[in-house]
Amino acid sequence: MIDPSELNTRSEALRDEIVGHRRALHARPELAWKEIETSRYIEEKLRALGCVNVKRGFKGTGSGVVADIVGGAGPLVALRADIDALPLTEETGLPFASAVPGTMHACGHDGHAAMLLGAAKLLTEMKERLSGSVRLIFQPAEESGYDSGAEAMIAEGVLEGVAAIGGLHLWSPLPSGKLGWRRGACMASADIWKATVRGKGGHGSAPQETIDPTVAIAHIITMLQTIASRETDPRESVVVSIGRVEAGTAPNIIPESALLVGNVRTTSRRARETVEERIRGIIGGVSAALRCATTVQYDRVYPVNVNDDAALDALRAAAEAALGAENVEEMPIVMGSEDFSSYGEKVPSAFAMLGVGDAAKGTDRPHHSPRFDIDEDVLCRGAAVLAGFALTVMERAQR
Ligand code: NI
Repeated sequence: MIDPSELNTRSEALRDEIVGHRRALHARPELAWKEIETSRYIEEKLRALGCVNVKRGFKGTGSGVVADIVGGAGPLVALRADIDALPLTEETGLPFASAVPGTMHACGHDGHAAMLLGAAKLLTEMKERLSGSVRLIFQPAEESGYDSGAEAMIAEGVLEGVAAIGGLHLWSPLPSGKLGWRRGACMASADIWKATVRGKGGHGSAPQETIDPTVAIAHIITMLQTIASRETDPRESVVVSIGRVEAGTAPNIIPESALLVGNVRTTSRRARETVEERIRGIIGGVSAALRCATTVQYDRVYPVNVNDDAALDALRAAAEAALGAENVEEMPIVMGSEDFSSYGEKVPSAFAMLGVGDAAKGTDRPHHSPRFDIDEDVLCRGAAVLAGFALTVMERAQR
């Protein structure tokens, strides 16, 4: 058994090194699937630590790194950090601000990579004492939505042999040094749909000779409101939003077709199925009743992020050791989404939010803001939480 206070002392000693990683990555942000220099940087550090099975480059790109730390007999525990930046011009004025115009680490993924490099060092140093092995996953393209880095890495086998996976997201709405966890679903799913409703266009003065798709979409828009109110369990959160409506060109023309584009958030795998089925049913049914034809394109973007109970307990135990039990608290579900959820569809997973919000340090600004910043004092403790998670899963497997 490894004493948690040892992990804390050693992670404190790595403070400057971890902050250095964060600043180096922060200054050179790269967008989804273009994290080449970022991945090279990470690869070099992992090789220097003596990690094995190092692979850089996924989906035919040079982005993404996976590596193992092989200890004694026991489970293989994966730790994941996402590494991509956002298309945003930084306005923090920090000395290590982005040197790349129009690109910024505005979600904290630079900190995620730095914490995981820190955890890699902590775990490497105690390799001889590990009752299991660790897989480090530095994942590209979390922000890209349609082109998920998690999906690509899973397809290329990063979860093979993995017993459990853990991850953290730095979180500015939560005070610095606190960890927010949630049992079961912790983040919503995100899906996008697009419906084209086709009628028969004609003169605005002769509706009897046309089939008007605008009337059909008006009914569809109101009928879709019944999904959240009538079709799904009121104890679960469901959002069905219509973000774009398009029909027609002139006051005296009944258009040929109309377009609706929307998004869906759900907080259970079951609700996600129900909502898709009902959206298709309502659009098809209402259109048919009004003699219109439809096509619906429904794209599943990210699944619900669901924590496994045992994995979450291990993450909480690691967080209590690293941050103090008083700083580890239950939090409400986050209606945003994350492709970490794709790992959780395959293996037991635990994901939690690590607070970096401190008004005095200017780190309480919203994620994806051009003035977003993180409290760097939290990073070494985050590294201890990640390393502690791997150790706790290994230790519990021995019982
Ligand atoms: Ni993020």
